[in-house]
Amino acid sequence: MAEQAFVTLATNDNYAKGAMVLARSLRNHHTTRKLVVLTGPQVADPCQSVLKKLYDEVRVVDLLDSGDTAHLAMMKRPDLGVTFTKLHCWTLTHYSKCVFMDADTLVVSNIDELFDREELSAAPDPGWPDCFNTGVFVFRPSLETYDKLLQYSAEHGSFDGGDQGVLNGFFSSWSMTDISKHLPFIYNLSSIAIYTYLPAFKQYGGNAKVIHFLGQTKPWSLTFDPEARKIRGGSQDAEASHSSFVLDWWTLYSREVLPLLQEHYGDQPFHSGCVEQEESQDSCAASAPPSLSSEERKERWEQGQADYMGEDSFENIQKKLDAFLK
Ligand code: UDP
Ligand code: GLC
Ligand code: MN
Repeated sequence: MAEQAFVTLATNDNYAKGAMVLARSLRNHHTTRKLVVLTGPQVADPCQSVLKKLYDEVRVVDLLDSGDTAHLAMMKRPDLGVTFTKLHCWTLTHYSKCVFMDADTLVVSNIDELFDREELSAAPDPGWPDCFNTGVFVFRPSLETYDKLLQYSAEHGSFDGGDQGVLNGFFSSWSMTDISKHLPFIYNLSSIAIYTYLPAFKQYGGNAKVIHFLGQTKPWSLTFDPEARKIRGGSQDAEASHSSFVLDWWTLYSREVLPLLQEHYGDQPFHSGCVEQEESQDSCAASAPPSLSSEERKERWEQGQADYMGEDSFENIQKKLDAFLK
């Protein structure tokens, strides 16, 4: 029987950091499957080398871009046209079955049982649960399906300008047909759910197997202080609740990925994201985000861009709820 693999995508150095952490998290939870990363030519050589250490296969692919600025503007994510590149994963025909995972996901428990599922299995999207989220999905590589997907996207485009719009159009029976293709939400726990349904998060969040840092702010866009084990620029309550997932990401990154990056970058400068380096290289220092009006904050929240390390922290929400209930 052909092998099975976890597959991710990283077209630039930032998402490559995410992919490195994802690989370590899969290995730390003892996956028995192969690990594959699709990358683009923009990924710097030292990052490519680190990916080669952590992945069984690093495949450089041509970038596909929807170029659909209108739909991407609606999502306020102009950068996501390139997620069309994800479609390349169907060309990995030397594997019989694969699980795709976004580079902004973190595995917190073994998930090899996902290979018992069939194409196309995925968890509901937290913004529109009749759509599946394409941050985690089970698929069967097939050139026939790949060609059909390209043809479908040429004819119909993508309603969100990214891969999720195309894949939901193509696998359109997902919401109504086979319940076994609905992965439980704990396999793709979007950080946004913490805000949209806090009591459910408190009840079930502990069962999470995969955390998905969905939205514009990614763990690697924050700054970490390894000594204090704190995210810099956020609230004092950064260790509360879900932000512990961000700390988990940073702990794994600083312990298991950063040393490899340091080794491969040698004397060349690179952006570690950690506070010491930031301070010694003044120009990179991350400043605290400017404060927003409550209207702007609401808008960001609705777009899944809550400032979960700062003003919208769990502690602050709890305080608001307590005050309201009193
Ligand atoms: N991605 C990438 N380069 C980009 C943007 C996205 O490699 O410039 C890949 C990466 O695997 C990422 C996925 O496409 O996790 C989807 O993008 P993202 O996670 O940012 O979307 P979100 O989950 O926040 O909607
Ligand atoms: C979603 C998914 C992401 C996908 C993007 C664009 O929010 O989480 O994986 O790439 O939409 O379609
Ligand atoms: Mn994602």
